Amino acid sequence: MNLLLLGRGKTGSLVAELAAERKHHIRVVGANENAGCAALTKEKLDDTDAVIDFTTPHCVLANIEACVRAGKNMVVGTTGWHGEVDRIRNLVESHGTGFVYAANFSLGVNLFLDVARAAAAALRHDYSGQIFERHHVHKKDAPSGTAIAIQRVIREACGKNEDLEIISFREGEVVGMHEVVLESAADRIYLCHDAKSRQGFADGAVRAAEWLAGKKGFYDFQDVWREL
Ligand SMILES: NC(=O)c1ccc[n+]([C@@H]2O[C@H](COP(=O)([O-])OP(=O)(O)OC[C@H]3O[C@@H](n4cnc5c(N)ncnc54)[C@H](OP(=O)(O)O)[C@@H]3O)[C@@H](O)[C@H]2O)c1
Repeated sequence: MNLLLLGRGKTGSLVAELAAERKHHIRVVGANENAGCAALTKEKLDDTDAVIDFTTPHCVLANIEACVRAGKNMVVGTTGWHGEVDRIRNLVESHGTGFVYAANFSLGVNLFLDVARAAAAALRHDYSGQIFERHHVHKKDAPSGTAIAIQRVIREACGKNEDLEIISFREGEVVGMHEVVLESAADRIYLCHDAKSRQGFADGAVRAAEWLAGKKGFYDFQDVWREL
């Protein structure tokens, strides 16, 4: 595929490596070349099959809007914009493009969401719970998009209209650790996902771009990762 990658930071640089290993042609654009979405005009995207975004919460919505208006399929890993998800779904559907997003593209975290969904049954009994997330000190958003996704699946699965509290820590160079702790008078359940590197995020994002080829529609990676 001909891929355009936005962001050559910690995750983007790994996405570029993995995409090249998987024999895709990948062009990478950073903040300077893409000021005001200059790299995302219809003409400049003419020979691009899909755009992958690992940039920052402050520019991601403008990137999405430009790519969708140019009719391009998109894979978005950048977090911090999910409050706008309904507006973006409408935009994607009205332009007939394909779009996959995730707060976390690693298969392990998506499996972890299933585990959390099952464990949410505890909240229908005498358990209370909390979510803890730890990331490196450079992370721009808190709580993490992954913690918010865990909170959402637990709320939906337990059938109560209450969110578990999320406690965020920013420490050193931690790649990403998420814990769910459920506690009753009798015992305590610990669930933990600890990312050892950014490899899983990058691999999932490239596979999502491959999966999206020739498709239209707005997809949460949680609903499609089993098909990869
Ligand atoms: N979904 C997932 O699986 C997943 C996994 C990891 C991270 N993330 C999220 O992905 C995002 C990036 O994380 P990161 O750790 O890679 O961040 P990072 O190391 O800070 O990299 C961000 C990159 O974005 C570039 N950038 C900023 N504005 C841009 C623009 N308008 N156009 C193109 N590039 C632009 C920067 O370019 P310059 O270097 O040129 O300034 C920088 O290379 C964050 O929101 C993070 O939470 C998601």
